[in-house]
Order: sequence, then C-alpha cells, then structure tokens
Amino acid sequence: MSIKIIGTGSYVPEKVLTNFDLEKMVETSDEWIRTRTGIEQRRIASADQATSDLAYEAAVKALEMAKTSAAELDGIIVASISVDHVFPSTACILQKKLGAMKAFCFDLEAACSGLIYSIEVAHALIKSNIKYRKLLVIGAEKLSSIVNWEDRNTCVLFGDGAGAMVLEKTPEGAEDCVLASNLGANGTYTEILQIPAGGSRMPASQQTIDNKLHYMTMSGQDVFKLAVNAMVSSCKEALAFADMPSASVTWLVPHQANYRILKAVASRLDIPEERVYMNVNRYGNTSAASIGICIDEMNRGGFVKPGDIILMTAFGGGLTWGSILLKW
Ligand code: COA
Repeated sequence: MSIKIIGTGSYVPEKVLTNFDLEKMVETSDEWIRTRTGIEQRRIASADQATSDLAYEAAVKALEMAKTSAAELDGIIVASISVDHVFPSTACILQKKLGAMKAFCFDLEAACSGLIYSIEVAHALIKSNIKYRKLLVIGAEKLSSIVNWEDRNTCVLFGDGAGAMVLEKTPEGAEDCVLASNLGANGTYTEILQIPAGGSRMPASQQTIDNKLHYMTMSGQDVFKLAVNAMVSSCKEALAFADMPSASVTWLVPHQANYRILKAVASRLDIPEERVYMNVNRYGNTSAASIGICIDEMNRGGFVKPGDIILMTAFGGGLTWGSILLKW
C-alpha cells in the first residue's frame, strides 16, 4: 500500500507586522532582525481568529485541490503548540467547521516538527489499516497568542499561519510518495524552548500571569546549534535509507526558523542555496505550519513537477526533529 499527496492548502492572516513595526514595540532594529534571522515581516491573526480558524482556511483550499469533500475524510490530525483550548482538540473544532463528521480527530504536539510527525503518523495509519483512505494533516499556529510581545529575544521570530495536506491511499502497486522518513526527540533539553506555565506542572495563577510564564521562553544559541546538528543527521539518515545522494534532492524544504539555520543545514548537506525553499523572510517562524505553507506555495507556484525529490526536515521544542524524503 502506498500514499500520495492529492491536495495542499495554506493560509496566512492579512495583517502584516514588519520589523519597522517591531522597532516601535521593543528595543530592536530591522537591521538586527534581518541580519540575524532573515525575517523581514510576519503575519498576525486578528483577535477573533483562533488557530482552528487559520487551519480551516488552509483545509478548505487543500480539499478543493484534492477534489475531496470534507465528508469523505477518514481522519484529521492538527499539529500545533497554540491550540484553541487545552481540550477539546483543535482537530475536533476543525471537524465541526468543515463538516467532516466521519473523521477521527486528534491534535499532535511536536512543536515545530509537528507537521513532519503528523505526516509520518498519517502515512503509517493509511498503510496499516484498510479503513483509512483519506486523511487531512495540518500544521496551524496562532503563535502571536503565546509570544511575549515585551521579549525581544523571541517576539521578533514568530508569525501566524496554517499549511494543510490531503493524503490518499493509492491503488495497489502504485509507488509510495514517501521514500524515507525518520523522527527523533531528546527530552533532556525540554527547558531551552518551552512555555513554563499553564500546564499541570505550574497551573495558571495570578503569579504566573504577572511573571509572564504562560509565554514562550527560549535559549536561542542552544537551540541554534542543536537545530542544525539534528536536521543534518536526520536528513542524512533519510537519504541513506533511500540510497540517494543529496545531489538528487530537487528541493530541500526545511522548517523556516531562521535563514542562518537553513543555510547551515543546506551547506552541511552539500545542497546549493538555490535548491532550498525559503519564505522565512515573509512569514517568520510559523512553527508546525511552516513546512505546509512552503509545500503549498511550491505546489501552486509551479516550483515542483512530478518526479521531483523533496526533502522536508524540521526541528522544534521537546526537543523533536524529523525528516521526510518525498517523490512528488
Ligand atoms: N534586537 C536587538 N538585539 C537583540 C534582539 C533583538 N530582537 N534579541 C536579542 N538581542 C541581543 C541580545 O540581548 C544580545 O545582547 P548582549 O550581547 O548585549 O547580551 C545580542 O543581541 C546577541 O544575542 P545572541 O543571542 O548572541 O544573538 P544570536 O546571533 O545568537 O541570534 C537568535 C539570536 C535568536 C536569532 C538565534 O540564536 C537563533 O535564531 N536561534 C534559534 C532560534 C529558533 O530558531 N528557535 C525556534 C526553533 S524551532
């Protein structure tokens, strides 16, 4: 049994927040942000938009392209760290909005690696179970709701958006679009990228709110080094499994964290920069949404053609990481 991506969709909110806007909010500069991260602007959801609303817009587009009605979906997986509620799942909220009433639903939390984890899980479900034919996987984030807008170390990096894919089981004998994949994690680094409060370890209280502990905190330099090493070894493992040299990769699609991270990963894999898809300048880091947004832009923009080899790789809080080598 094999699978195919039959539709992609993405959505970013209308509101643009530029580096110049941020100069008025915290002590930073456009020059600092651009040279350290490659980010020029990011999108910010409106007060009445939750993560499921962003996910809905991306899902509708992916379903349209897949010529699939929501009622045909067997399952929905939403990857997010900025869920609508701790529970119920954002996937259940999305199910209702779409009218996908046959679908099982769950959220998957693997931070910025969430979409890679979700595709891997969906792939395994489709391949192992005769019941599941069409699954919707989405990375969706309203990170503006969990970012401390007074902390210049983090607030300049992140943005909101959603990227979706419809995966379908293909007929017997067809080629599987997933050539290789791997997932990884290292829980010894949980504290370098986290939201300290709001969970069972430190429930929300007046004190956690006063100390802004329900916002994201990060040790940027530690994350940087670990991100490059983890993505490089994960990509190498995927290429080795498929017995392919990095020269056969048409597009490297890394999680859009920071263009310096992306360049370092590409260079260590011997993949020239012109074969690395980047939109971090326009959207910043949209966590679980970033790879989905890239793939949809590439698909709709004619950047990919059948037979192209795409290497997606991500890294995020947890720590988590993973790579998927795809034949388009
Ligand atoms: N504007 C201006 N100055 C800033 C700033 C900002 N937005 N943010 C931090 N600084 C300051 C720091 O306070 C520090 O000042 P100091 O030397 O007086 O202490 C200085 O800039 C250098 O900070 P440093 O952390 O060394 O910068 P850096 O070159 O490592 O870049 C990051 C910082 C965050 C851009 C970089 O570490 C990074 O991208 N890390 C990975 C983050 C990431 O991708 N996270 C998500 C993973 S999924």
